Amino acid sequence: MRQKILVSGGAGYIGSHTCVELLAAGYDVVVVDNFSNSKPAVLDRVSRIAGRDVTWYEVDLRDKSALARVFAQHTFSGVLHCAGVKAIDEAQRFPLKYYQHNLEASLTLIEAMTQHGLRRLVFSSSATVYGEAARVPYREEAPLAPNTVYGRSKMMVENVLQDLVQADPSWHIAILRYFNPVGAHSSGLIGEDPSGIPGNLMPHICQVAIGKLDELAIFGHDYPTPDGTGVRDYLHVMDLAEGHVKALEYVCRESGLLTLNLGNGRGYSVLEMVRAFEHACSRKINYRYAPRRAGDLASYYADARRANEVLGWRAHRDLSEICTDAWRWQSQNPEGYS
Ligand code: WQD
Repeated sequence: MRQKILVSGGAGYIGSHTCVELLAAGYDVVVVDNFSNSKPAVLDRVSRIAGRDVTWYEVDLRDKSALARVFAQHTFSGVLHCAGVKAIDEAQRFPLKYYQHNLEASLTLIEAMTQHGLRRLVFSSSATVYGEAARVPYREEAPLAPNTVYGRSKMMVENVLQDLVQADPSWHIAILRYFNPVGAHSSGLIGEDPSGIPGNLMPHICQVAIGKLDELAIFGHDYPTPDGTGVRDYLHVMDLAEGHVKALEYVCRESGLLTLNLGNGRGYSVLEMVRAFEHACSRKINYRYAPRRAGDLASYYADARRANEVLGWRAHRDLSEICTDAWRWQSQNPEGYS
């Protein structure tokens, strides 16, 4: 009998790539997603890659009775909680939405797990929980001081999970703090499909390369970084997906709370990303310098040693593979999943 894993947000960018990896590792996968920022078509693609079906339900996690029906139909070995909203600027304008979808939804999911005696959870957190207080490279022990609503909504869930383990050490929880996931599955069948004009760097570069957007605005070129542009820790989404499977295996073995950075451990500037992408797609990426974006930090990247020590995980796909895979996805699916 295969172990069955519930993946919330399994049709999203991270969730879908993680489902592929779970299926490859021999798990059965049940997805709950409200499709607010994704489409069921994603899951057909996941099934195509894996050669196995994915069971899915259109469920908003805050809908307790809908969630209860899913739990009544399946016996899960663990939960990967990837569902959430993640646009930094939108979060500043609509904080309540972010606390509802990120915090309230997590509480409902945890409550449903508790009711079914299920205590194995992997939670999608973000490097944005560190904020300005931490020194680079960020270590997991660094103080948390997120400077955005989005980051605070993630930190609040982390706090809830800490309290949960404190009160009941039989919980098995891994908190994964993602740095900047980019790239796509090497099949070109799944990738990042943002709605509207992409707010993040990589999908924006992709859309300039394919001709959907005229140019990239580089937000700031006067940062105290080697070339003046912002530096981030970009990691391939399939490396991240592998990290989830290893974290799941860990929570199936060990109880307590484990908090891990999932990053590549080194930073790349915006200009380095542009050049690597130009190389991968053999096209010129038009860009112009624009003022700094409010709330952006100059440079951050992970100290990713703990994930290596505890899980034996590290990001091993390089920038060239990231860009090649992102370009394959974009060029084969110029309109995303639609
Ligand atoms: C990267 C760099 C920008 C767009 C990350 C995640 C994000 C979120 C929080 C997940 C920065 C520059 C960007 C553009 C640019 N959620 N840039 N022009 O801000 O590091 O956020 O953490 O937890 O999804 O990616 O990522 O991709 O927006 O920016 O110059 O059009 O690219 O200033 O230096 P960021 P990003």
